[in-house]
Amino acid sequence: MGINILATGAYVPDQKLTNDDFKRFVDTNDEWIRTRTGITERRMAGWEPNWYMGAQAAKQAIERAGISPEDIGMIITATATSDFHTPSLASVIQRETGAVNAAAFDMNAACSGFVYALDTARRFLQTDRDMKYILVVASEALSRFVDFEDRGSCILFGDGAAAAVIEYSDKLYSAALGSDGTGAHFLCARSLQIAPEIKQETGFDDGFTDKPLHKLYQDGKAVYKFAVKALPAAFELAAGKIGATAEDIDWFIPHQANVRIIETAAKHLGVPMEKFIITLDHYGNTSSASIPLALNEAVGKGVIKRGQRIAMIGFGAGLTYGGAIIEY
Ligand code: COA
Repeated sequence: MGINILATGAYVPDQKLTNDDFKRFVDTNDEWIRTRTGITERRMAGWEPNWYMGAQAAKQAIERAGISPEDIGMIITATATSDFHTPSLASVIQRETGAVNAAAFDMNAACSGFVYALDTARRFLQTDRDMKYILVVASEALSRFVDFEDRGSCILFGDGAAAAVIEYSDKLYSAALGSDGTGAHFLCARSLQIAPEIKQETGFDDGFTDKPLHKLYQDGKAVYKFAVKALPAAFELAAGKIGATAEDIDWFIPHQANVRIIETAAKHLGVPMEKFIITLDHYGNTSSASIPLALNEAVGKGVIKRGQRIAMIGFGAGLTYGGAIIEY
């Protein structure tokens, strides 16, 4: 059993940050960023809280789906950059959308978040057939956590949100989720400071003790090595469950981290780059929002059509990964 994506929606802030804009913060240049990452510009939230971006994307998806918000049984929001420890973004999005009959919660699987949320939603729809629709939202305000003094990471990320209204269907579906916690400290933003004396006195070191507080830290090379393996592996795990191969897929929507990661994975899978939807050039890496933003854009442009098979593949902090194959 699978899902039907009734409609998608998106919201990105108006404010653009070009590669040249980063010269104000760090020693960098447009050529380095473009050739090493494929990114030209990204959006940056100004006054908008994360929940606002998510709610705008959600409202658009609901309107396009032509459903009543009251028929939504659940809101799942994927985010790694929430405005709050509590409440969940999903609860605030419920307030904004009038989805009064929905359960609401957030999940954090970092850049794999949309695939995790989609598969979670699919399982709820399968086991509770009274639930008509689930609203899946992925919303990220990374610019509030990025370290604008770290040139190796600040240039990668952008802000934005996207949402999908989904329902139960018997369309083709397969998904595989995974994680490798031994790499958890390679990509992190810690919210608890352990006093340095404790490390000295006890020798305690969880791999995070020297990482900055409330700022995104990444070991770029370690994450890159993980990503080039995780991207094809997550697809193959999902495809293997239904005996599919890359040739059965019309469109690949990978997490939009770095075009070099995608090119390496494409080569591994023997798939031409033309089959990969790329939006990182204008949005950068928007974490969990990157896959649904790309889906929304490709559908909006008429590139992805009903009946086509899509493989969505996420990877990111955790280190998490997940692949989902759906029929659009
Ligand atoms: N502008 C100019 N130079 C930069 C730079 C920037 N923004 N960032 C790093 N450099 C420099 C480095 O300091 C280094 O200089 P050095 O040789 O004098 O020491 C040089 O460029 C090469 O750095 P390196 O880290 O080897 O570059 P790279 O080709 O590995 O690319 C990343 C760096 C971060 C782009 C790449 O490792 C990457 O994409 N990693 C994965 C990150 C990711 O996707 N994270 C999110 C996953 S969800």
